[in-house]
Amino acid sequence: MKKIELRSEQDTIDLANFLAPILKPGDVLTLKGDLGSGKTFFAKQIGKALGVEAEIDSPSFVLFKEYHCGRFPLYHLDLYRLKSEEELFDLGIFDMLESGITLIEWPELALRLLPYQTYGLVFHFDGQDRWVEIFPDSEHQRLFE
Ligand SMILES: Nc1ncnc2c1ncn2[C@@H]1O[C@H](COP(=O)(O)OP(=O)(O)OP(=O)(O)O)[C@@H](O)[C@H]1O
Ligand SMILES: [Mg+2]
Repeated sequence: MKKIELRSEQDTIDLANFLAPILKPGDVLTLKGDLGSGKTFFAKQIGKALGVEAEIDSPSFVLFKEYHCGRFPLYHLDLYRLKSEEELFDLGIFDMLESGITLIEWPELALRLLPYQTYGLVFHFDGQDRWVEIFPDSEHQRLFE
């Protein structure tokens, strides 16, 4: 696990700019953290770094948005309003994971069904300080040593 302090929005932008070039289709990033901890802000910066021109906004009312204008397809999910695991199957996300880069806010309900997670990110904001913990899978650990 790697802990990174995010003292300013620029630190989050820098983290996205570090990660985006090493992402490849099939990678799944889960973004955990309380309301307002910075998950969507980070997702926006990943989108920008991948060349997505459309502004990435919060998909919470539709659960899922996809962007095909960047270097790879980008799938952005926010499962805050997901009611059941069955609803996840209806979204069809398991069929598309391999073809793009998937970012999942509020992934808790999906964790049991997800075949794998390339990076688990946990965002923290205690009212003053912000930081993120990154849990890479065993294949990607060396990038964070
Ligand atoms: N270092 C930082 N990193 C990320 N966001 C920051 C930082 N400093 C301030 N912010 C601000 O904090 C807010 C984080 O909101 P954001 O929508 O990303 O949270 P969220 O985790 O997606 O919340 P939700 O669970 O409601 O979806 C943004 O308005 C952003 O501008
Ligand atoms: Mg959000």
